[in-house]
Amino acid sequence: MNQEFAKKNAAKEAVKFVEHGMTVGLGTGSTASIAVDLLGNKLSENFQITGMPTSIETKKQAEKWGMDLIGIEDRDSIDIAIDGADEVSPSLDLIKGLGGALLREKKVGRKAKELIIIVDETKIVERLGVGPLPVEVGTENHDSIAREIEKQGCQAKLRTEESGDVFVTDNKNYIYHCHFPEGIKNPEEMDVRLLNIDGVKDTGLFVNMATKVIIGKEKSIEIWE
Ligand code: A5P
Repeated sequence: MNQEFAKKNAAKEAVKFVEHGMTVGLGTGSTASIAVDLLGNKLSENFQITGMPTSIETKKQAEKWGMDLIGIEDRDSIDIAIDGADEVSPSLDLIKGLGGALLREKKVGRKAKELIIIVDETKIVERLGVGPLPVEVGTENHDSIAREIEKQGCQAKLRTEESGDVFVTDNKNYIYHCHFPEGIKNPEEMDVRLLNIDGVKDTGLFVNMATKVIIGKEKSIEIWE
């Protein structure tokens, strides 16, 4: 499979749902960035939208197109959001955040009346937790927060940059990548348990949030809803 074609096909389909005048959550990652460029390229007198970016990186990208932008706290509700994902289960639950922007992505996703997830086929899993679950934590006492996280049955590894420096999120937090040896049996329950730990800011589990998942393939797309 040509992954680039697959991502493009998913992104192309997603932007069809965006109408003139809408406020649009702009996701982060390589697939979402294709959608941001398609939207930017479509801007005209008859197609104006207001973007709510989920990261500094996406904000910069949208600014280059001259798109009207607002901050996360500027609106309680937005029409639609388009974002990528790291894993998608058959019940449309997701793991997101390997791009490091999960906190803002989740806030924007929650505000969206429609959350469209765009992925290629490699992101589809039977059970979430094939790869790591990113969990964003405060920097203070992060070691002991990680030990608490591990009590939920995973191994938590602090995310670092290639240089070896600790990765710092847009919100000045750290991220632990949590490996669950048997996957995550009950994502909803795990999300609640992790969020109950002092110092955990948010998790990459997006449960009951996606309204549509567009799976891009090399020459076609499939929509789950
Ligand atoms: C960003 O923090 C993530 O949630 C991305 O949406 C996710 O990692 C998917 O990225 P790709 O589209 O680059 O695979």
